[in-house]
Amino acid sequence: MIKENELYKCKICGNIIEVVGAGNGELVCCSEVMTKIEGRKEEEEYGEKHIPVIKRGLSGEYYVEIGSMEHPMTEEHYIEFIELISEDGKYLTRKYLHPGEKAEIKIECKCTRFTARAYCNIHGLWESNVQKEE
Ligand SMILES: [Fe+2]
Repeated sequence: MIKENELYKCKICGNIIEVVGAGNGELVCCSEVMTKIEGRKEEEEYGEKHIPVIKRGLSGEYYVEIGSMEHPMTEEHYIEFIELISEDGKYLTRKYLHPGEKAEIKIECKCTRFTARAYCNIHGLWESNVQKEE
């Protein structure tokens, strides 16, 4: 069953798509059923460089950074995008990144709790639940 906000990848051409409205059909690319991308979570190998973490700036603004240890942002290995999805599912934002940029996103939404996701070109999708301080 396909659900809103799920990510799917074509194992032939590498297309990645995100579901913005769920239907009953299968998602097909290059004549093959697409594979759902599952976000990896805490305690897994390489997690320290991929799990999204929330940080607060000097002016009180919030950021989500990728990894408690900085993730590489080289041509060969980098975070392709970061997404934030609010707990109520009403707010979703995505920031595309390029080699040389910092793997972070500023939280512009007033919501408190989010699922944060990061997609590494080598290590795939990672996610965590993050929360602003009360
Ligand atoms: Fe990585």
